[in-house]
Amino acid sequence: MKNILKEKITLRPRGRKVDFEVLNNLKALLNVSSYRRDHLIEYLHKIQDSQGAITKDYMTALANLMKISQTEVYEVATFYHHFDVVETDTDKPPALTVRVCDSVSCEINGASELANNLDNYYKGAVRIQKVPCIGRCQSAPAAVVKFNPVDNATFESVKKVVDAGSFTPDIPKYINFESYLKDGGYKIYQAVCKGEINDDAIVETLEDSELKGLGGAGFPAGRKWRILRDQTAPRLLAVNIDEGEPGTFKDRFYLESDPHRFFEGMLIASKVVGIDKIYIYLRDEYPAVKEIMKNEIEKIEKYFDNLPQIEMRRGAGAYICGEESAMIESIEGKRGMPRLRPPFVAQVGLFGRPTLEHNMETLFWIRDILDKGSKWFKDHGKNGRKGFRSFSVSGRVKNPGVHLAPAGITVDELINEYAGGMLDGHEFYGYFPGGASGGILPASMSNIPLDFGTLEEYGCFIGSAAVVILSDRDKAVDAARTTMSFFKHESCGKCTPCRAGTSKATELMKNDEWDISLLKELSQTMSDASICGLGQAASNPVKSVLKYFANEVKDVSKT
Ligand SMILES: Cc1cc2nc3c(=O)[nH]c(=O)nc-3n(C[C@H](O)[C@H](O)[C@H](O)COP(=O)(O)O)c2cc1C
Ligand code: SF4
Ligand code: FES
Repeated sequence: MKNILKEKITLRPRGRKVDFEVLNNLKALLNVSSYRRDHLIEYLHKIQDSQGAITKDYMTALANLMKISQTEVYEVATFYHHFDVVETDTDKPPALTVRVCDSVSCEINGASELANNLDNYYKGAVRIQKVPCIGRCQSAPAAVVKFNPVDNATFESVKKVVDAGSFTPDIPKYINFESYLKDGGYKIYQAVCKGEINDDAIVETLEDSELKGLGGAGFPAGRKWRILRDQTAPRLLAVNIDEGEPGTFKDRFYLESDPHRFFEGMLIASKVVGIDKIYIYLRDEYPAVKEIMKNEIEKIEKYFDNLPQIEMRRGAGAYICGEESAMIESIEGKRGMPRLRPPFVAQVGLFGRPTLEHNMETLFWIRDILDKGSKWFKDHGKNGRKGFRSFSVSGRVKNPGVHLAPAGITVDELINEYAGGMLDGHEFYGYFPGGASGGILPASMSNIPLDFGTLEEYGCFIGSAAVVILSDRDKAVDAARTTMSFFKHESCGKCTPCRAGTSKATELMKNDEWDISLLKELSQTMSDASICGLGQAASNPVKSVLKYFANEVKDVSKT
């Protein structure tokens, strides 16, 4: 008995010992009166930004301050690509990192060559990192010098920015609060607040407009609001601005030009659904947007009374955090691993509360739909489809960019009527109709209406409406290889079909001759047995290649 007691008394926390100098530095850096568990990722950002990396001593000190286990801090810090977890100060990466996007639109525009040239020149003095899409595909290849984006990047233009030491982004010209208000902005929100527009009528208008979730899944927005209104308060709103699907840049485009149209939609949603607190999750790759939003939110908070509290959260370079339940985990300060459903986030979401989660663009259209009517929105479609879509068009066209076009437009019409036609000397060869996960179609199938539900019979989907145009200079096989290695990189690792499947498929696809029957089996298993949309859709491009671009691959069993 005596010995057991003694053992209990001598029990002490396991793991590394706290370095008190580091602990004091960290306290000063974080400068908060109490530590919030859900702010773990925000604290890690502060350490990464100020120290250039996160050493194990800092993680130990952070665990101590937050009174959580060291393992918890370690597993979160190592999950996110934007955190450099190192042993000690001497292992830190170079002070400056240049990120070069190597997703499809940038890759076909010479991203690898650019990254190699920079690497050969800087020889480790500047870290050159190849990263997935940074949401600037209309200006491919795109790079970022610390936080400063370089569009249509060349070796010379990147070097110039590095030499100048200009590491922060330029803030684009946009419609600010004062101008938005002057032009009739927030009129609808104010009418909703005064009860001049009835909440039930708003939900009906939304349902009638057939506005669908524009984050990719296309769930009817009005129905989602109705479901949320039936849940017990307090309810939360989570706005998804992770925009990680390669080829997508529409959310950035709207936020860098007309952010208040989105804020107004967000406030209307909050009022009608009865939201207590709003969380905005913004991808880390958009620092200019962060600045704009921070400034403009301050203005609306000053101008309006009784707003729900608005909290902005910064992502940390993990594509999976765009998946709605993974985003919620991330806002809670955890690894962005999707949850099993049911329960759905509308019932049990952020911090266990019913949560209305919306893509930023879905909220962007609310004001106009209420102002101009559901018919106005619906009348925009063509080929039997309704509404419009903000297509992020990139690749081999003359005018890449965000093109607002009728839902149901064909890719031929999109290229010729909106994107200025194919680049001179390029012949249309194929296209991604919905980003990296939406599959690839050949030019011969250019007359399919692009919308939710129209592409599934061809093994594809529209998703976030990111259309990447390939020409006769490109190969679908190369594009599929790029996307599969992206999914391998971004798989959160929670389930085996996706974790092992993306890894195995990447290896198999590196070969000149493919083991087609094994790839087919693997693809089907990933689609059928993965927990979330990442694993379920990861094999779409390879399935498309086998179906529509079979001439590009050789079957190993037939040689
Ligand atoms: C792997 C994966 C990544 C996703 N990424 C995003 C994203 O970056 N932005 C987004 O709004 N939705 C994304 N989604 C869709 C969300 O899960 C969710 O459907 C959406 O945020 C709901 O809002 P909405 O109804 O307004 O579209 C992603 C889904 C999956 C499976
Ligand atoms: S499918 Fe992939 S990303 Fe989704 S939970 Fe499984 S391992 Fe994670
Ligand atoms: S920025 Fe490179 S593909 Fe999007």
